[in-house]
Amino acid sequence: MGWRQLATVLRGADTWAGREPGAGLGRVLPRRRGGPGPFWGVRSRLGGWDLFWGPGSARRPGPAWGHAERLSGCRHPARAGAAWGSGPARERGGTMAEDKAVTMVTCTAPVNMAVIKYWGKRDSELILPINSSLSVTLHQDQLKTTTTAAISRDFKEDRLWLNGEEADAGHPRLQACLREVRRLARKRRGGGTDAAPLSLAYKVHVASENNFPTAAGLASSAAGYACLVFALARLYGVEGELSEVARQGSGSACRSMFGGFVQWHRGERPDGKDSVAQQVAPETHWPELRVLVLVVSAEKKPVGSTAGMQTSVDTSPLLKHRAEALVPERIACMVRHIRERDFEGFGQLTMRDSNQFHATCLDTFPPIFYLNDVSRRIIALAHRYNAHHGCTKVAYTFDAGPNAVIFALADTVAEFVEVVRRSFPPAPNGDQFVRGLPVGSASLPEELLSAVVLEPVPGAIRYILHTKPGPGPQLLDDPSQHLLGADGLPRGSA
Ligand code: DP6
Repeated sequence: MGWRQLATVLRGADTWAGREPGAGLGRVLPRRRGGPGPFWGVRSRLGGWDLFWGPGSARRPGPAWGHAERLSGCRHPARAGAAWGSGPARERGGTMAEDKAVTMVTCTAPVNMAVIKYWGKRDSELILPINSSLSVTLHQDQLKTTTTAAISRDFKEDRLWLNGEEADAGHPRLQACLREVRRLARKRRGGGTDAAPLSLAYKVHVASENNFPTAAGLASSAAGYACLVFALARLYGVEGELSEVARQGSGSACRSMFGGFVQWHRGERPDGKDSVAQQVAPETHWPELRVLVLVVSAEKKPVGSTAGMQTSVDTSPLLKHRAEALVPERIACMVRHIRERDFEGFGQLTMRDSNQFHATCLDTFPPIFYLNDVSRRIIALAHRYNAHHGCTKVAYTFDAGPNAVIFALADTVAEFVEVVRRSFPPAPNGDQFVRGLPVGSASLPEELLSAVVLEPVPGAIRYILHTKPGPGPQLLDDPSQHLLGADGLPRGSA
């Protein structure tokens, strides 16, 4: 898509850097034309090495120099490899070659789906929630953000590219994450502001891509900010607690810093130091658990989460009651259901909490409607299906949009997917209907069909994505996966 279209999407839809219509990243800049082409070779200059640019391949793999990779402008692996090993970026010396260096890391991070919802902040600046929340991290084979972060003495300004198009790197939430990671790096290196190593003052270039369409309406801001913070931390050599930093990009992002089942503790402190995410159980804990994302619509949200939850805090007595009186108990129950792999309890509570979240949206004044007719049909279908089986076989949950996320155990997936296919028959020449993990075939018994599949609505569900719980952020070792080239610009951006 062109940058103008993307600008519309970024402003209006669920992008990782800002989920408010009109208040996303703000200005989206056109791709710069006539910039340098892909890296092609080196020439000697004043005893150092300089780049020249020519018609090379856009994705030429670089040498494997380690994690925080320094692209010194020298393509000679021996020379470069001798200087830089794996691990975080080292402080630079003063030679011409090093002055030209670009240091970069590339990481991936997952999307997460809340089963006890976060809705409402007690501090909008620090992004401190009014209640704890709990989520399942989804597998990155199906849904992930990839981010390359680079620093260089030569960068003139912070720059950001989202899905290949330049966006405003001055977004306050992005700058907050950058500031926090640098502060932790400074602390780790034992210096105050004045003693900060030079590289902490360098500008950064960040490129980020999702492997899933924005149209999926998933919480791409969570994966995006988790990935940004994880990559920056690796770049600056920061370890330890990072969910507190990711939280300052987007609340739900703190939960994407871990795999499996993750709780974001509300915390009590005004400085937010105890408002952090913690893994409840790893992704391997419940091997049979599966997730189906039912993509209903590509329409943009009527009200973004950030603005929506603020109106709810200001106007909904139900939200206040939920946060104070109901969520603490719900969190404890959900942790127990997960630990015991109790799908009946897990599924029931997941559905109830989703419904209560949407009830607080309706209790908001003016009310917010995230569910549409198709969402409500999916809810009714899930209840009919469970009633037919006499137990909870599937559980739905909806975030701030109409798309359903269904939890089920592996042995239910094929049958339920067939139920969905019969209830929302896909267009004959449409896109592939079932994506992600393979789904077996199932034939539906007549009693199930007549009890569960009522009044089919053709084309109402665009596709189903089949996935499962997965791990937290990962560092990519393979330099060919960097999204930025040796010049610190998106690869293939000539
Ligand atoms: C409905 O994390 O997107 O998905 O902190 O303002 O960036 P900000 O909001 P965000 O809100 C997510 C809300 C939710 C529920 C959840 O993920 O817990």
